[in-house]
Amino acid sequence: MIRTTFTQELGITHPIASAGMARVAQADLTAAVSEAGGLGCLGGSTMMPDELHRQIESIKARTSNPWAVNILLPESLTTEDDSAWVPVREALGRMSPEDQAKMDGIKAFLTPGVVSRQVEIILEARPAAVVVTFGTPKWFIDECRQRGITTMALVGSIGAARRADEDGVDILVAQGTEGGGHTGRASTLTLVPGVVDIVDKPVLAAGGIADGRGLAAALAVGAVGAWVGTRFVATPEAFGHQRFKERVVNGALNQVDISKAYSGKTMRGFRNEWTREWESKQDQAAPFPLQYAVAGPLVETGYIDGDTERGMMPAGQSVQNIHDIRPAGDVVREMSAEAERIVKNLGASFAP
Ligand SMILES: Cc1cc2nc3c(=O)[nH]c(=O)nc-3n(C[C@H](O)[C@H](O)[C@H](O)COP(=O)(O)O)c2cc1C
Repeated sequence: MIRTTFTQELGITHPIASAGMARVAQADLTAAVSEAGGLGCLGGSTMMPDELHRQIESIKARTSNPWAVNILLPESLTTEDDSAWVPVREALGRMSPEDQAKMDGIKAFLTPGVVSRQVEIILEARPAAVVVTFGTPKWFIDECRQRGITTMALVGSIGAARRADEDGVDILVAQGTEGGGHTGRASTLTLVPGVVDIVDKPVLAAGGIADGRGLAAALAVGAVGAWVGTRFVATPEAFGHQRFKERVVNGALNQVDISKAYSGKTMRGFRNEWTREWESKQDQAAPFPLQYAVAGPLVETGYIDGDTERGMMPAGQSVQNIHDIRPAGDVVREMSAEAERIVKNLGASFAP
């Protein structure tokens, strides 16, 4: 068993967290990972308040182990200045009725006041940890601390790591560009030790980790565990069309790329007709979350319809190394056991 400050602080068995992937990481996946001894994380950011509440109740009914929830807290979503929402309302108003009816997967990002309701629900539910992305507002970190909730934050650069540290976040998740979903430019193998060197806090590694080899490498560069997304897409418990999961299993390194085409922020996912259409006009994409008022319906086109040519399908470079759809609990146990074997036997592979 690999014990680290991460497993000790969270009271979990394996130093592995499943990423709080919007749409993909619902109660099924979260509970399965936590039940297996990892830290399951609910992708709460795109859930409207009632749905978020329902999903949290469902996790609680299925596991008594620690679990986490992810939300996005950029100023653009938390602002109470109504004038900031005018462009969103105008863009939504320009959508066809068919497109408007297909916005379920993304409505939470385009509705004022939703994030403050999400915050209330999460603080009341008291998960073991909250994982925040796109900002670490100090008021929120303090509210969590007062309730004994561990705070974790995704960071994609040294600057973001410093800010999260100063805001009082407990655990940093250093996410390299290899990762699926929104991602920066620094690679995992350079970012993780860089963050480890500047903060006196536990650091998880993210981006490109799909098996025990990746976890062992993360531990070798100073991380105390791994935050894993794409590998968990290819599990029966993940939400999403079978074609998306099969694409991850059959995917190759050169099929995933970074594009602003869906959200307005740099996101790594499968390249397709829609991302190619936007390739030459990246700088014309509206800023996050406004681009969703253009591309929002394509979120469900990916996750629900399984249309690989138009639909959004975030995925990281680890698609190269994922070869099967496997129960999430097995992924956790096998990744941990393989990393332990590798770490113990590493010296034995040296040439005499
Ligand atoms: C399908 C998918 C959806 C994602 N959604 C979110 C999200 O809602 N919030 C977030 O902080 N990160 C999200 N991410 C990024 C993950 O949190 C994580 O950093 C990343 O998946 C790690 O790299 P990996 O995919 O190589 O394991 C998503 C990633 C994927 C693949």
